Amino acid sequence: MPMLRDQITSAEQKFSEEISAAASLDAIEKVRIAFLGRKGLLGELMAQLKQLEADEKRVLGPVLQKFKAVAQAAYEAKKTELQEGALRGTRERLKDFDVTAYRYQTFTGGLHIYTEIIEELTRIFISMGYEVADGPEVESDYYNFEALNIPADHPARDMQDTFWLKQQGMLLRTHTSPVQIRYMETHKPPLAVVVPGRVYRHEQTDATHDFVFTQLEGLLVGKDISVGNLLATARAFLRAIFGKNDIGIRARPGYFPFVEPAIEIDMSCPFCTTGCSVCKRTCWIELLGSGLVHPNVLKAGGIDPTKYTGFAFGMGIERLAMVKYGINDIRLFHSSKLAFLQQF
Ligand code: DAH
Repeated sequence: MPMLRDQITSAEQKFSEEISAAASLDAIEKVRIAFLGRKGLLGELMAQLKQLEADEKRVLGPVLQKFKAVAQAAYEAKKTELQEGALRGTRERLKDFDVTAYRYQTFTGGLHIYTEIIEELTRIFISMGYEVADGPEVESDYYNFEALNIPADHPARDMQDTFWLKQQGMLLRTHTSPVQIRYMETHKPPLAVVVPGRVYRHEQTDATHDFVFTQLEGLLVGKDISVGNLLATARAFLRAIFGKNDIGIRARPGYFPFVEPAIEIDMSCPFCTTGCSVCKRTCWIELLGSGLVHPNVLKAGGIDPTKYTGFAFGMGIERLAMVKYGINDIRLFHSSKLAFLQQF
């Protein structure tokens, strides 16, 4: 076994080689552990020192202590040097980084206002026990008009300018009312259903008219259903959608061939009590066409009008959203303008 002094000398040499070769913080940490760590080489040499005679200890003890101090200092110095080097590298890399530069905007997607409002509307009706249904946008004359008590030569056909398709008797539905018939054909009363969906009108567009828009249709059929049920439902629905308990409704006579009596329902303006721009200074807003389902319509749906009665209603979803959110042009809904869509 070599003399302890020789071992110390070779350990000193090995340490100085390894520490100068180490080029990263990880590497010098390994060297530190190998030499100065709890189970490191220096510890071993100390243990050997303890076995020696007192006079040898007196000579070699300080030698070993000095090695330890020198190694520790060399390690610290190298560590500082490496840390500073890393910092200089980072500074060098970032020296052209302009913290005031414009950052490209990134956008996250969201639900379209149509999706949101249709979900909100149907949620209210689902809470009142209604089903949600849909029907085809390409419809037949029969479902869109005939079955709804609007025969071929009826002047009421002019109320809804129609996109006729090349195929005889086919059209783009002008309202969601045809789904009333389709639903009655497949369901027995008592029934309650709402139908959100797209409809088409062959007409000039302006801020309040578009050739494609969205309606919500409602139909409830049961025993002894009356105008009272219709008005109570309309009031409950409007209060829920506007989140206000003081919304009043007003019923006016109207005309739609598929209901008798036909009733136009207005709601009191949710924004004022004395007249504002939303209600055009009248304090009332027209929102719903409705009425008691015409016996001919019940018959067309396969329901006996001597046993059952029902109410139906229809409204423009965009119009409702325009009132609720203060939107002033219906064409914005289809515009894909991000500035518009991101508000919702
Ligand atoms: N379908 C009518 C329209 O598009 C709206 C409507 C009125 C629907 C009265 C109904 C109703 O269900 O009872 O103008």
